[in-house]
Amino acid sequence: MSKLAVLGGDPVRTEPYPKWPVFDQRDIDAVTHTIQSGRWGGFPYPGPNTAEFAEKFSELQGGGYAVPMINGTITMEVALRAAGIGWGDEVIVPAYTFQATASAPMAAGAIPVIVDIHPDTYCIDPEKVQEAITNKTRAIIVVHLAAQMADMDAIMAIAEEDDLVVIEDAAHAHGARWCDRGSGTIGDFGSFSLQSFKSLTTGEGGVLLCKDEHMAERAASIIDCGRPKDADGKEHTMGVNYRWSELHAALGLVALERFPEQFTQRSAMADYLEESLSEVPGLQLLKRDLRLTRRSLYRYVMKMDPEFYRCNHDVFCKALSAEGIPVDTGYPGMHRYDLFQPGLSKLPVPTVFPEYFDFEKMSLPVTERASETESVWMGESIFRAGEQGIDDLIKGVHKLAENRTVLENLSKSE
Ligand SMILES: Cc1ncc(COP(=O)(O)O)c(C=O)c1O
Repeated sequence: MSKLAVLGGDPVRTEPYPKWPVFDQRDIDAVTHTIQSGRWGGFPYPGPNTAEFAEKFSELQGGGYAVPMINGTITMEVALRAAGIGWGDEVIVPAYTFQATASAPMAAGAIPVIVDIHPDTYCIDPEKVQEAITNKTRAIIVVHLAAQMADMDAIMAIAEEDDLVVIEDAAHAHGARWCDRGSGTIGDFGSFSLQSFKSLTTGEGGVLLCKDEHMAERAASIIDCGRPKDADGKEHTMGVNYRWSELHAALGLVALERFPEQFTQRSAMADYLEESLSEVPGLQLLKRDLRLTRRSLYRYVMKMDPEFYRCNHDVFCKALSAEGIPVDTGYPGMHRYDLFQPGLSKLPVPTVFPEYFDFEKMSLPVTERASETESVWMGESIFRAGEQGIDDLIKGVHKLAENRTVLENLSKSE
């Protein structure tokens, strides 16, 4: 049995996984050309690069009116504001996500109502959404987490019944398809991030896909200091400057050229990983819903069995990372953030369903198990290192399995 690298043994992999983002001469030429054009900023909105990017991005997703802006947090705030959602309104969000999903409603003046996720996919649980609806609920934000998508059939049925706006937080889901429909094109809005880690990146940036043209005009107005964007030039909004720069859009056009090949490569390696994982003990894959007809590999999550490995996911991830396989434990539950504690954030606690705002009483068992015990998150770079990259991951997990007693001791000494 070889000694774990976390205790000074030789790591399974010494070669780092490929860096991200990648670039080549095309990025340098595109930025140089934009610099030389003298058109650097986003005013008047949209600039030529931004307009071209918007058109190509909605082609990639298969629909919607695309409004690029500065990031994938503002996109959700702008969607809510375009739809007239704000003070006192409730917006249902999943408890397991990046904090932006819940801070965006707050920035729009609404109250995020945090509900549990489904154990099969770690995406929002439609049954929990249904239970959390009050007469103040105006919207649902679903997150297509890691390589999964939320159950859009169930969510759209609930939304239709209760006349709710649906925003798909697709920050992890560029290029994904649900029943062959693009992520972000099924709900009223799709929100995408282009931040440095994302599988389609320009360093910073975001795109809001709108189903309705009028909503897209309102969103474009909100991000451009309220200037009217409707055909008659009459509708002013309460706007600010969230315009995207032409330099970022120049990078975006090249990123879009590269994306299909990267997408195919990551998907092939994820399939290879799943075939190989069947031989590995104590690891469980999330379920693959057949309606998820194309998945997008930004991050990939598995469940480790704490009883088998005799430790929690934090010790497991630390030990596997020391073997040269970068993994982490993912997000904390939303209810663990100070920001969302009503007492600290001064969120008003409504009289209907107050338990949705009292985190002491809130029961979010699936989120707690995922975020505090069992989830193992991989970065997309693991899927760009060829079969060797996946083989090393598998070797690393086998090594941990052989060293379970050591992991147990490590766990006790943490
Ligand atoms: C699920 C999710 N939503 C929203 C965001 C926010 O995107 P941005 O960093 O572009 O504001 C992120 C970014 O990491 C994310 O992972």
